[in-house]
Amino acid sequence: MKVTVVGAGAVGATCADNIARKELCNELVLLDIKEGIAEGKAQDMMQTATLLGFDTKIVGSTNDYSKTAGSDVVVITSGLPRKPGMTREELIGVNAGIVKGVCENILKYSPNAIIIVISNPMDTMTYLALQSTRLPKNRIIGMGGTLDSSRFKYQLSQHLGCSPSDLNAVVVGGHGDTTMIPLINKATWNSVPVTQFLSAEQQEKIVKDTMVGGAMLTALIGTSAWYAPGAAGAALVESILRDEKKLFTCCVALDGEYGQKDICLGVPVTIGKNGWEKIIDFGLTADEQAAFDKSAAAVRSMNDVLATL
Ligand code: LAC
Repeated sequence: MKVTVVGAGAVGATCADNIARKELCNELVLLDIKEGIAEGKAQDMMQTATLLGFDTKIVGSTNDYSKTAGSDVVVITSGLPRKPGMTREELIGVNAGIVKGVCENILKYSPNAIIIVISNPMDTMTYLALQSTRLPKNRIIGMGGTLDSSRFKYQLSQHLGCSPSDLNAVVVGGHGDTTMIPLINKATWNSVPVTQFLSAEQQEKIVKDTMVGGAMLTALIGTSAWYAPGAAGAALVESILRDEKKLFTCCVALDGEYGQKDICLGVPVTIGKNGWEKIIDFGLTADEQAAFDKSAAAVRSMNDVLATL
């Protein structure tokens, strides 16, 4: 198996590091446009192989896509990260051109690859990848909801004083500070609704803190977060390469599911060897569906900006 991670910034490098440590593939290519960065980080990671005990071969490349040939999965992290005070949406102008170019180059050498999009604004970049490549829709997966659901479980665990791993909780909708929808009424602690243990104020705070989770970290760190985004990308790669059919929230093309069409948005999907395989209907309540439709409208107007670029 072969995986390529495009973009050797913090998110891309962390994603690659997780993939290598878990030995998800025999060959891993890390590619970046900046001279030497990918080669340097690839070598640095390879020098951990004997310490951490993995055999994945990591190759760095400065924009030479021939090295990515025959990749089964490609993770796209390229583009600018956000700075404190910026929204993900403000990155559209620069990142759209980058993501489109990356998709073209990738498909020249890996026509059968499944593509995972992490670049922001993620919902629109996923839509762009689908439109520009014309690949079967199951092979284009936006990572956002996987990360946001993990952040949601973290926030819940802090209030419940429990292990995040004992929680089932998902965030659907867009991957934006105002478009994501943490489904708190459907969240459970080992099958018991979390709402039984949380006051209305706590629930409101958890939802709010989840929605601005990325922005809060950007303010603290000075740039976009990378550990959880990188790990979320690697978790999707794992479910694809091991055909695990795990359920994640991912940004995928909707064709009537969840009441939406001609848009890529976060919904629960199974992830396996064919990419995203099945959309699972979580049966949204009227309020949740209204929030989902509002989120879709915001993402759709961001998608409309693509035509003006
Ligand atoms: C975040 C970026 C990766 O939420 O969108 O941290």
